[in-house]
Amino acid sequence: MKPIRVGLLGLGIVGGGTYAVLERNREEISRRAGREIFVTMAAVRAVDLERAREKTAGRIALTTDPAQVVNAPDVDIVAELMGGIHPAKELVLQAIQQGKHVVTANKALLALHGNEIFQAAHERGVMVAFEAAVAGGIPIIKMLREGLTANRIEWIAGIINGTSNYILTSMRDRGVSFEAALKEAQALGYAEADPTFDIEGIDAAHKLTIMAAIAFGIPMQFDRAYTEGISRLTSKDIRYAEEFGYRIKLLGITRRTTRGIELRVHPTLIPQKRLIANVDGVMNAVLVKGDAVGATLYYGAGAGAEPTGSSVVADLVDITRMATADPGNRVPHLAFQPDQMHDDVVLPVADIETSYYLRMQAFDRPGVLADVTRILADLDISIEAMLQREPVAGEEHVDVIMLTHQTLERQIDRAIAAIEALDSISGQVTRIRLELLGSA
Ligand code: HSE
Repeated sequence: MKPIRVGLLGLGIVGGGTYAVLERNREEISRRAGREIFVTMAAVRAVDLERAREKTAGRIALTTDPAQVVNAPDVDIVAELMGGIHPAKELVLQAIQQGKHVVTANKALLALHGNEIFQAAHERGVMVAFEAAVAGGIPIIKMLREGLTANRIEWIAGIINGTSNYILTSMRDRGVSFEAALKEAQALGYAEADPTFDIEGIDAAHKLTIMAAIAFGIPMQFDRAYTEGISRLTSKDIRYAEEFGYRIKLLGITRRTTRGIELRVHPTLIPQKRLIANVDGVMNAVLVKGDAVGATLYYGAGAGAEPTGSSVVADLVDITRMATADPGNRVPHLAFQPDQMHDDVVLPVADIETSYYLRMQAFDRPGVLADVTRILADLDISIEAMLQREPVAGEEHVDVIMLTHQTLERQIDRAIAAIEALDSISGQVTRIRLELLGSA
């Protein structure tokens, strides 16, 4: 059979990793794919031309004009590995219009414009594959779309941003400052071009949006995701959480409830004994709960050249195998047939239901705890555990930490407002959500 020819948009970390994996494992990959797959051309920025020539040893055509790759007659699959929204979106749509299949690692593009892109691909009868867009080298898209297809998926909880996990791990284990840990992650090539995407939970929300769409058969709804990052977390809270037997992780959580879909990214206390609580450094992990299979956990490198390249190449192989199949017989882009998608409501954060860690600074005098617990009781919020530190010499107030049972976020909002209004409480109450992530 004729070889499949790939054009790369971008030959940076992901593009370079993809090229290297394809070259090194060429023979084994073609034994699996049934056809040879090779890169014919790549578009790079002018400043990167020399480095690209070295990386590819002059074996492929290089251009600084990405449209040339999209329009090239000897390119069957366009792999968009440049990132960003523009011109990536226009190039992907152009490739689709030309009847070319597309592989993309671009989570922001899919989370924001996936509905339009998949619609265009469906109409044109081409495939858009995106394994590398979520959790780097972990084949989580394949799992959600195919491996778990028998299940009604109930919830997903994932550590899906390596940079923030690296920062949290370094702060906890090595006492490294937030800034120093971020610098290290950037030097290792894990952080986004704009690192606020990593530390403010935006990158994780992009990936979560994509997983929720596939898990529940809903359109991409990034604008409805609740996003809170790790930049306001203190090492004090990390330490207190440990005292209660919990770790704090930046989790992306999506859950199907009778009232709608929860779609949220935020720092979360999880019991130390859960496997996912022990996923450290830049590693990623995704916990998926299906009604038939129970809880399943997928772990691996969430970023980096060859792990992400591994996912891109898997998509290239999938497309190669399915290229001649009738479009109606292919795996649907978002796991559900396009006419079977549902428009379930994504709940505002006030309507989510979870447990909470609350830390407050109380003046050390009689009746303070009674006031706080009365507020919680009046709102029907049950306390699971409580800790009061001994007063530090010279300090007027003491840290009081409470863990609550599950309640609606709007109830906790009310409780926090009432607690903060007490004369005996100083400053703001720190609230961190808590998930048990049990399999029940
Ligand atoms: N910035 C991302 C991370 C890269 O840190 O996980 C992979 O998407």
